[in-house]
Amino acid sequence: LDKTYILAIESSCDDTSASVICNEQILSNIVANQEIHSKYGGVVPELASRAHQQNIVPVVHAALKEANITKENLNAIAFTQGPGLMGSLLVGASFAKSMALALNVPLLAINHMQAHILAHFIDDASDKKPTFPFLCLTISGGHTQIVKVNNYFDMEILGETIDDAVGEAYDKTAKILGLPYPGGPLIDKHAQTGNPVFTFTKPKVKEHHFSFSGLKTAILYFIQKQVKENPNFIQENLNDICASVQNTIAEILMDKLKKAVKETGIKQVAIAGGVSANSEIRKRLTNAQTHFGWSCYIPKFEYTTDNAAMIAITAYQKYKLGLYNNQSVTANPRLKV
Ligand code: KG4
Ligand code: ZN
Repeated sequence: LDKTYILAIESSCDDTSASVICNEQILSNIVANQEIHSKYGGVVPELASRAHQQNIVPVVHAALKEANITKENLNAIAFTQGPGLMGSLLVGASFAKSMALALNVPLLAINHMQAHILAHFIDDASDKKPTFPFLCLTISGGHTQIVKVNNYFDMEILGETIDDAVGEAYDKTAKILGLPYPGGPLIDKHAQTGNPVFTFTKPKVKEHHFSFSGLKTAILYFIQKQVKENPNFIQENLNDICASVQNTIAEILMDKLKKAVKETGIKQVAIAGGVSANSEIRKRLTNAQTHFGWSCYIPKFEYTTDNAAMIAITAYQKYKLGLYNNQSVTANPRLKV
């Protein structure tokens, strides 16, 4: 059988990543995180693009080395076209375009949100693969969507957030609690040893849509009120606060998923995106298999937060369909699923 080697580059936000795939099998997936943003409490776009510029060559070299191939073995070059930060996307796009031109191989522009979903088709992403159609809850720092996936490149957004993304709710809550960016994983960690003793009102949002800005404000007011009475409230109750926030968010997500399953009749449910690394949402989805008879797909940790392996698998599907891009393709910060 033919072997296709693709180099994929991801630089949409604050992680510089490169991956080499051989058909559906990931040979390398190098991710360089940008520490610089943690002290600012969020991603600083200007600093992100500069860091990509510094990281991209070493990261690509490392990916080729780990895959044990040279650039002459590559059959195509892929990059994240969007959505994301313009300055960050441009670094990956320019690099990939130049490399494809120099090697005279096809160029593949990849949609980051489709890639989060299609990460499920990586050989070792999970023990079983979803079949079409399936529902995917895509939850990240920039997006919160329920997507009906009809085929690799035929996806419909059933609902999405009308304000903040769920990852933003995690990160902003962490900031209120004095935790560094990105706060999602830290809230998750503290929640492990806490109890959900505090309750926050869940937003009422129509259809399959979400809203998280009200929750963030509710948490802020609650904390401010408690701290006024007891200045050590956060320190003394950190684990319980985190468990309560995590519980509320997981309930909001599960409520909407149940509604989507009911209305579409599709019982195959996948999760994707950085927040799908969250232990509570993973646990609830696992339980939904026995409780509601769903078939759930939970990707390996390394394929949840931003990575180039997901760009690579999406590129392989595009390559097989002959969906190449020409050199006039440009980064698109607002690219839609
Ligand atoms: O997909 P991703 O790496 O980047 C975007 O495309 O946005 O998602 C990053 C988001 C951040 O908001 C981060 O706090 C959140 O994913 N995140 C988590 C966890 N791990 C990462 N949120 C909750 N629990 C986690 N374990
Ligand atoms: Zn992402």
